[in-house]
Amino acid sequence: MVLAGGLGTRLLPMTRVTNKHLLPVYDRPMIFYPLQQLAAAGIDDILVVTGGDHAGDFLKLLRNGQDFGLEHLRYAYQEGEGGIAAALGLAEHFAAGEPIVVILGDNIFQDSLGEAVAQFRANPHGATVFLKSVSDPERFGVATVEGDRVVRIVEKPDRPETDLAVTGCYMYDARVFDVVRGLTPSGRDELEITDVNSRYIEWGELRHVELQGWWTDAGTVTSLQRAADLVAADRGNRILAGQIDLGQAGGN
Ligand code: G1P
Repeated sequence: MVLAGGLGTRLLPMTRVTNKHLLPVYDRPMIFYPLQQLAAAGIDDILVVTGGDHAGDFLKLLRNGQDFGLEHLRYAYQEGEGGIAAALGLAEHFAAGEPIVVILGDNIFQDSLGEAVAQFRANPHGATVFLKSVSDPERFGVATVEGDRVVRIVEKPDRPETDLAVTGCYMYDARVFDVVRGLTPSGRDELEITDVNSRYIEWGELRHVELQGWWTDAGTVTSLQRAADLVAADRGNRILAGQIDLGQAGGN
């Protein structure tokens, strides 16, 4: 599933007239990146959760998902600002007892997530997060790892214990919906994805993958610009290497 709700207040005034995830990042709308990422990982049934005043524009842009090679593209509408975990909760019927991959609509990954998704599919127990070493960890959920186990995640800590950001891609077994039901709102009055992950840590069932390539969110003016720069450089490199494939949906 792709989470594309929220008010995008950090990108005002652009988000007064559109949804953040429809803004361009280099040569395509932001939401294309996470959608293409999931499609490339072999996921062909995707739920897009959105909300606000511009939800209809997602249907106009993405239609039935065929441009992305999807079998099914579904939509859910999130009322209000419930947070990432609340949006995840809307997918219970969609998941129908199966494991689920969640990706935030403003996260762009250079690495393919396909191998990790395949591994989780083969052993869909517990949860997996994707970590990336960053220079500004205080902006994110920050993970502490001991051996191959995540032992702690702190959401936007003033003094981060490590530089490992928890990126916006998560894989969960079917118990995640019970976890979401048990959450209480945080200080910012949202159901936090970090609280979901912390429950899996308590169970000793949170695995992690450390990303090698670049990763960025695109939810602030600075990170939106950085995302475009990273994509542009990547695209340039791949054109030089003769690997670019501009398909109907914009290619990858
Ligand atoms: C959210 C999560 C945070 C994560 C980040 C990744 O933060 O709460 O743990 O590191 O996404 O983009 P938000 O962008 O909602 O502030």
